[in-house]
Amino acid sequence: MKKSTKESGFATKAIHSGQEPDPSTGAVAVPIFATSTFVQQGIGKHKGYEYARVSNPTRTRLEQNLAALEGGRSSHVFSSGMAAINAMCTTLKAGDHLICSHNVYGGVPRLFNQILANYGLQFSYVDTSDAQNVARALRPNTRIVYVETPTNPLMSVSDIRAISRICRGHGAELVVDNTFMSPYFQQPIALGADMVIHSTTKFLNGHSDGLGGAIVCTRKSQAEKFAFIQKSAGAILSPFECWLVLRGVKTLAVRMEQHDQNGRAVAAFLDKHKKVKAVFYPGLRSHPQHALARRQMSGFGSMISFETGSLGNAKRMLARVRVCSLGESLGGVETLISHPATMTHAALGPAGRKAIGITDGMVRISVGIEDVDDILADLDHALRAI
Ligand SMILES: Cc1ncc(COP(=O)(O)O)c(C=O)c1O
Repeated sequence: MKKSTKESGFATKAIHSGQEPDPSTGAVAVPIFATSTFVQQGIGKHKGYEYARVSNPTRTRLEQNLAALEGGRSSHVFSSGMAAINAMCTTLKAGDHLICSHNVYGGVPRLFNQILANYGLQFSYVDTSDAQNVARALRPNTRIVYVETPTNPLMSVSDIRAISRICRGHGAELVVDNTFMSPYFQQPIALGADMVIHSTTKFLNGHSDGLGGAIVCTRKSQAEKFAFIQKSAGAILSPFECWLVLRGVKTLAVRMEQHDQNGRAVAAFLDKHKKVKAVFYPGLRSHPQHALARRQMSGFGSMISFETGSLGNAKRMLARVRVCSLGESLGGVETLISHPATMTHAALGPAGRKAIGITDGMVRISVGIEDVDDILADLDHALRAI
């Protein structure tokens, strides 16, 4: 059994932390508290809840659960991953500088460059797979280093421990987007990160039926800031969607094991396929950061990108998939296949994509937990269209 840093194992925490039976009824599943407000016994007298934007019992349970899984002090959930990333940036002031991995989910630079830069925040993009690039990009006003590892979609891996040392020396906070690995395969806080970001929409929910985002904190001062941002800016996660994540997280450990097993099989298949020009998967020995991935992660997960050679080839193969569903997003039980250049990374534009190596022929796959032979047969059939 996979052990966590605290006494109980990861799967036990996923099922029980914050998921204790409801004290008033004994319900084993956390109830959905569908209420906007809470009756108060008198002025200033209440049971800990006043208004649902500030806090809600279903949300509290999810926040306890995610903090326990990431080994953080607290967590704060938002209406989407992007809402969580935006909330993180509202802790900055005009004139502050943030360093971001140059290859991240395309919505992140869109938020930074097209919205937040208008408020006087400064952004630099560097290849964080070389930690020294972070050291070189630091400025006196650098407050946050934002790293996605592995990255979307090139699966490049950054050394969390090395970057955290650089940040500590400078007084900047290291924020790691742990969406692709989930806390099951990667524990950024144990490696020195100050905060962890999730799109809970992906593996944490795991069933492609709700959006959500989370920030996991390590310090009381951060927790206070994010509780204040939730209350003041209001982009919080609804009780129903909190419940969906609480439900999903109970099977995170078994799902991630199966995602990993299927992911390795699909990567090996694509790597040998004569129609596939290149495969990007940290579990392959040929991956440039394979050794780091082995050290830093306890599995390789199920996110894989591969090169078909041209837009035409990508179109032809994607038109033929049947078990794999063509669509944006990832991390669900079903295999999702997508085309980064026209979907997740369209906002970067051709020059932005070229600069980081995203081609028109690149296809990304989030391998689900169907029978792996069915996924392989589907991909083989689709690749014959090239
Ligand atoms: C790694 C990563 N982080 C953040 C996000 C944004 O999350 P959301 O779609 O929940 O806003 C995504 C979305 O695909 C993502 O892939």
